[in-house]
Amino acid sequence: MTERRLPRPSEILPLIGRRDPSLSRLQARLERCASIGDVRAMARRRVPRSVFDYTDGAAGSEQTLSRSRKAYARVEFTPRVLRNVADVDPSVVMLGERSALPFAFGPTGFTRMMHYRGEPAVSAVAGEAGIPFALSTLGTTSVEDLAAATPGTRRWFQLYVSRDHVSAEALVQRAEQSGYDTLILTVDTAVGGIRLRDIRNGLTIPPQLSVSTLAQMALYPRWWGNLLTTRPLEFASLTSTGGTVGDLLTKVFDPGIGPDDISWLRGIWPGRLMLKGVQSVEDAVLAAELGVDAVILSNHGGRQIDKGNVPLEILPTVVDEVGDRLEVYIDGGITSSQDIVAALALGTTDTLIGRAYLYGLMAGGEDGVRRVVSILDKEIRTTMQLLGVTSVSDLDRSYVRLR
Ligand SMILES: Cc1cc2nc3c(=O)[nH]c(=O)nc-3n(C[C@H](O)[C@H](O)[C@H](O)COP(=O)(O)O)c2cc1C
Repeated sequence: MTERRLPRPSEILPLIGRRDPSLSRLQARLERCASIGDVRAMARRRVPRSVFDYTDGAAGSEQTLSRSRKAYARVEFTPRVLRNVADVDPSVVMLGERSALPFAFGPTGFTRMMHYRGEPAVSAVAGEAGIPFALSTLGTTSVEDLAAATPGTRRWFQLYVSRDHVSAEALVQRAEQSGYDTLILTVDTAVGGIRLRDIRNGLTIPPQLSVSTLAQMALYPRWWGNLLTTRPLEFASLTSTGGTVGDLLTKVFDPGIGPDDISWLRGIWPGRLMLKGVQSVEDAVLAAELGVDAVILSNHGGRQIDKGNVPLEILPTVVDEVGDRLEVYIDGGITSSQDIVAALALGTTDTLIGRAYLYGLMAGGEDGVRRVVSILDKEIRTTMQLLGVTSVSDLDRSYVRLR
């Protein structure tokens, strides 16, 4: 028979969970997020609905985005065992430079709407993590201010070409002078995608104070307080406003970008050049013929064409066709380390994430982005170890198939 006794208080006290005193309440809440899905749920509670929907949403029926995510759900790994996986190195070499983790922060516009600190907060975390940050033409921090705020971060600049080309040229020169090493030309945005959530929510640029937005103020006083008491929320490199972001893309940027513009950019930009938004094997081949340094297979996170195809599904063919001529990158629908490791095994040089870090930004500013990186960092190492590999160069198609 087991003898029973009353426990002493000194035995019970250590069992009661207490917050690590070095963590703020926000950091403690972020620590309890175990996955990017948890961070997304926290983000949803902390910003007005129209802001969350602008970030989370996609175009039309959102099939492109949902297909991209479903493609990652089809990933099936074949782990190998009896290998020494004590030391794992998840770094990759991207366009000539080593990056500590196999993902970069892709360009996202209007970032100070998600959190008042915006791009500098995201770029600071990128610098700490040793990964690149791409500033968008639709950014809310200027190329110079971001460079001054985070001089140690590897910075890329994403270009949308304005109709007059003159201001685009000026922007490109400013990016070069401010130490950005790679130019990303986004080519999937001849016109803006039709984003139904923004239309339904009345999300315009700049945000309008309507009866419903005023009502939302009561629900999100911290977000509104930050918005109204810091510098005005506006695009740093654009003066046009009016309508939804989709409307603005159509109004301001040149729908006539073609192969000649690649030569024009080569003439004014001495650094590396990436084409973002390639969605077919044929266009990847065209990009190789045009001599760009890299393509990003991307459907813009499903925010442009609805019912589009899925980058992950064309990745192996693109790598086979052009992988010896340029580097191939991928983004869209990545929400876990398994997604990242699978894309690496299928041949991408590196991955880019968009929403995943924006969920962190909405959930907790810089701390939230940091939490996203720490979740992915730990998961990537674990997934690689459980697969039986210790470096990204060990990964190949023998480890993964799409069911
Ligand atoms: C809120 C938001 C804004 C974006 N803004 C831009 C942009 O200004 N330029 C660009 O090339 N891509 C933009 N993108 C697309 C991202 O760079 C990237 O292709 C996409 O987010 C990847 O999908 P994921 O969000 O599922 O990771 C944006 C994406 C989101 C979610």
